[in-house]
Amino acid sequence: MGITIESVHAVEILDSRGRPTLSVVLRTADGTEARAGVPSGASTGSGEAVELRDGGTARYGGKGTRSAVGNVNSAIADALQGQSFRDLAELDGRLIELDGTPNKGVLCANAIVGVSTVAGRAFAAAHREPLWEYLTPAGVSPTLPVPHFNVVNGGAHAPNTLDFQEFMLAPLGAPDYPEAVRAGAEVYAALKARLSADGYATGLGDEGGFAPDIALPEDVLATLVAAINDAGYTPGRDGVAIALDPAASEFYRDGSYHVAGRPLNTAEMVDYYAGLVDRFPIWSIEDGLAEDDWEGWIALTSRLGDSVQLVGDDIFVTNPAIIRDAIDQKVGNSALIKVNQIGTVTETLEALAVCREAGYAAMISHRSGETEDSFIADLAVGSGCGELKSGAPARGERVAKYNRILEIADASPHLRMQKF
Ligand code: PGA
Ligand code: ZN
Repeated sequence: MGITIESVHAVEILDSRGRPTLSVVLRTADGTEARAGVPSGASTGSGEAVELRDGGTARYGGKGTRSAVGNVNSAIADALQGQSFRDLAELDGRLIELDGTPNKGVLCANAIVGVSTVAGRAFAAAHREPLWEYLTPAGVSPTLPVPHFNVVNGGAHAPNTLDFQEFMLAPLGAPDYPEAVRAGAEVYAALKARLSADGYATGLGDEGGFAPDIALPEDVLATLVAAINDAGYTPGRDGVAIALDPAASEFYRDGSYHVAGRPLNTAEMVDYYAGLVDRFPIWSIEDGLAEDDWEGWIALTSRLGDSVQLVGDDIFVTNPAIIRDAIDQKVGNSALIKVNQIGTVTETLEALAVCREAGYAAMISHRSGETEDSFIADLAVGSGCGELKSGAPARGERVAKYNRILEIADASPHLRMQKF
């Protein structure tokens, strides 16, 4: 079932951080109207597809997106309007060809991703299928992902002294998806009470997690374990486990990792993680090392890869070719998947297929700058990858994704949450 595009139109809107981004509306000849919002990162990998910002200082400190909006409303609209497409792969192929660069450097990722995701919605509507079903590849079983709730924010996402960027709750032991959401929200509430009782501020970072001024990651981890217990859950894989995203590229300078004021070399950093994994119920570490420390990643993977999920974000940037190299060289054992890192839904599905075929895990992810668009919730279900991170179990732009999956779970009771 194809679509014929009547119009595609972008508008500059604000994201959850108060920065400009794009909203895109697509109308098809049969009267379907679809809408998408474009996310944006803060701790970006250097290999990500290019995000176009207007520059200068007059508007939004240079962060305006009028030029990206212009790319949708002129070059892309001119190429797509009146055209018919068989499927999303064909339409995405047209966008890739129109841009003509390997990193979306001409039309740019924030313009292209808005059009690709809105088109995905239009194709799903044409098929009279929920979006997750349209996105399910042949031969893949869709599942409800384990939600990864980011409840403590540091690094580039908060103005505190904490160098690690994300501390997430992963309710791996929950009997089903609604109970996993409940566990996340109950531990989040218990954590707030405990932080307040200990005299810490409970202001929030960009992804809705608390941003207490705690410098040592081990002190945050101890507080998290206490909060899991306070809420009546078991810390660990049978109950609520912990996932980290240190986003180490952000604190890697001059060949050293700087954690709580201490410079550590790669070997010391790997030892540090091994110690944390021994002491705390950590099941997953994303970007434990920097994106340009490929050799360090190999050492980290041989040391911890059998016991912990090691997820590459900045180092892989959702790029199928880089993920293939990582698999060949045993760099990590899992990839973070962000549609706007690579630019189109079709290339994202290719990255997911590379992971699936190699038995490599994958986690779908939001960005620190988000809109209420819940596309990634459907992508997480349809791809069957089993894992989603979308920030705290609070704030509209974060819970939009978790809530969308609650609705999918209710409407499609045959879908089960992934077991690990
Ligand atoms: P970003 O961070 O969206 O600010 O890049 C998210 C992440 O590092 O996973
Ligand atoms: Zn990350």
